[in-house]
Amino acid sequence: MSEVVRLERSGRIGLVIIDNPPVNAISRPVRQGLLECFRKAAADRSIEAVVLLCDGRTFIAGADIAEFDAPMAQPTCHPLFAEMEALDKPTVAALHGTALGGGFETALACHYRVANPGARVGFPEINLGIVPGAGGTQRLPRVAGVQNALQMFLSGRPVDAEQALAMGLIDAIADGDLRAFAVAYANRLVDEGRGPRRACDVAIERTPEIDAFLQEQRRRASRMRGRVVPGMDIDAVEAAIDLPFGKGIEREQEISDASLETTESRAMRRLFFAEKATGRIPGVDPASARPLASGGIIGGGTMGRGIAMSFANAGIPVTLLDVDRAAVGKSIDAIRGEYQRSVKKGRITEDGLEACMRLIKGSDDYADLAEADVVIEAVFENMALKKKIFAKLDKTCKPGAILASNTSTLDVAEIASATKRPADVVGLHFFSPAHIMRLLEIVRTDATAGDVLAASMQLAKTLRKVGVLSGNAYGFIGNRMMDPYGREAERMLLEGATPRQVDDALESFGMAMGILAVYDMAGVDVGYKVREERKDLLPDDPSFYRSSSMLVERGWLGQKTGVGFYRYEAGSRERHDNPEALEMFAAEAKRLGIKRRDLTQDEIEQRCLCALINEGAKVLEEGVALRASDVDVVYTSGYGFPRHRGGPMFYADTVGLKEICARIDGFAKTLDPQYWQVSALLRELAASGKPLADCANE
Ligand code: 3HC
Ligand code: NAI
Repeated sequence: MSEVVRLERSGRIGLVIIDNPPVNAISRPVRQGLLECFRKAAADRSIEAVVLLCDGRTFIAGADIAEFDAPMAQPTCHPLFAEMEALDKPTVAALHGTALGGGFETALACHYRVANPGARVGFPEINLGIVPGAGGTQRLPRVAGVQNALQMFLSGRPVDAEQALAMGLIDAIADGDLRAFAVAYANRLVDEGRGPRRACDVAIERTPEIDAFLQEQRRRASRMRGRVVPGMDIDAVEAAIDLPFGKGIEREQEISDASLETTESRAMRRLFFAEKATGRIPGVDPASARPLASGGIIGGGTMGRGIAMSFANAGIPVTLLDVDRAAVGKSIDAIRGEYQRSVKKGRITEDGLEACMRLIKGSDDYADLAEADVVIEAVFENMALKKKIFAKLDKTCKPGAILASNTSTLDVAEIASATKRPADVVGLHFFSPAHIMRLLEIVRTDATAGDVLAASMQLAKTLRKVGVLSGNAYGFIGNRMMDPYGREAERMLLEGATPRQVDDALESFGMAMGILAVYDMAGVDVGYKVREERKDLLPDDPSFYRSSSMLVERGWLGQKTGVGFYRYEAGSRERHDNPEALEMFAAEAKRLGIKRRDLTQDEIEQRCLCALINEGAKVLEEGVALRASDVDVVYTSGYGFPRHRGGPMFYADTVGLKEICARIDGFAKTLDPQYWQVSALLRELAASGKPLADCANE
């Protein structure tokens, strides 16, 4: 008798129930249990229809991702689902929570599907670099049409119950108890003599519309820089159109197995687990987290507003404080405006907007923060100001409240020294726009308490972000690594590359945005001001970030002034070349004695990437990051590094660490021996043959 799947009865209906916490993944014991229970139901003449449902918080959330590193153990999905589908009694899958990937493929092997109003169904496999491999690519196009099916595979986005009903993915939405509804539905099928309705029996006809659609999707897939799995999804769907079902299933198996072998898939599956691993901090018990039910934010500027929206979006009440009533009013109006834009785009409803706005209270009085469980300071980047504010918080906030700073460059321990409770102080480094970006760097000082770190990790989860622990060192993990990466990009402008060449090289590698376009978007002056503050600590090199400095000196601050590394038309973000800037860089190169030459795309990519990787290794070496996978999560969730390349640490292994060291040594010879120093950790790993991606300071 299976421990995770059982057969129950409700009159003439057999109930096959899965109970495999936490998310009912269809692991080997579940497949075995399904096989046994469906066989029993088939053999039992008194059972006239079968309902498949799950205990716990969700229907099957997918295949067990941990099983993908080895061939699937028996019984595998294809023969199991073929047997379920062949049953000569009608079967009804009853969905709640998230029926994803292998989960929805199981449901597709049933003859009918009903769902709770809150259920969501979809195929997130593309986010793991996998082509669905449990019959989905063959059954879904037959059930929902080629276009709907392929769009689901390629986007990876789940749809809600209403959409699923409209697309024909499910047959009914349950009102009331799902189990009772599904049983009643099955009884009705029996009463009405509606027997099995098998997806495998449907034939798909190739039409000119389908051909045109497929062609368009192929064109798009070919533009997805360096990715192969989207094209493989299209191959599998074409098999559903062109081959009989059985042959199509064989073809799906080949394609899905091949997808698992791709670097893209290894990279993305590792990131799935890497994002879960960030929450594990040695010596910190997640269960010890201080409860956080209300928040306070000081400073209603760019960041404060975004953080307030993050809280409200997660249903947490928050008080937003600024210098005076006028400043507070301006922030609240700006937040409403931002929500209104979301309403216009159809992302939230008017009711949703009002519900969020009710959760955000403006204030100019610290007394209103007295009861907050966590207060996040997001005022100007100025140590004296921040210390003044923390001293005030120390006097005002209740004991046990978490006092956090959103500083991007300042020493959190020094900020904490303004209080008598440094154990309660932590850095919570959000990224702009804070209500959208997923990354939250959690900065610990030597004094930060474990239950504060646990609560911060929990807060990240509640805000639907990924929290990554960082040591309290300049730039933390992300911005620290950005420094040499940006330095290279800017230096190459003096050597003869154009901003467009640099950004194109990085974007064709897969970065969401080239670094110079990022500077223009964020404001070229932002980094400039930070460097001015740290002048004494910078390398003695007149070319260091010289191009940014020159732009700032001319008042060319990027998009906000309409000109920076590029030129922008009013109201548009389209990049136009800025020939005056190019001339300026060329003249400066001459003044500094830097030889001008043509740089290849390869050189641009390699210099930027090697700088990033080398600094990442140093961040690990110094213990600023706990693990290489944390570094990769920072870069993929906060800095637009392509997920299919796994993050800079994983990517370095795919190139080969010996090769990375050789490249850096080469740059030391031809460019700057002082600057290009291979990290000791990188050198050691290259010699030992161990992967960088597995490094951890645990
Ligand atoms: N395999 C293995 N473990 C899984 C899993 C899966 N498919 N999905 C979730 N888990 C684990 C998580 O690692 C986590 O473990 P932990 O507690 O030890 O850290 C635990 O389940 C709970 O997960 P979450 O913290 O993410 O719980 P949430 O409630 O926030 O989210 C979820 C639930 C929406 C189901 C989310 O976990 C999710 O999106 N999971 C992945 C779903 C997915 O990608 N499915 C497709 C798999 S590929 C596939 O099916 C291929 C097929 O074609 C053969
Ligand atoms: P901002 O200039 O947009 O907003 C600062 C806000 O603080 C203003 O509304 C100002 O009125 C308010 N303020 C100033 N003094 C105050 C005081 N004494 N009491 C209450 N409010 C006060 O600044 P931004 O960009 O939001 O940055 C805030 C912090 O976040 C800084 O520490 C910055 O380094 C950090 N940060 C900024 C990021 C960005 O991309 N802008 C990204 C990550 C962190």
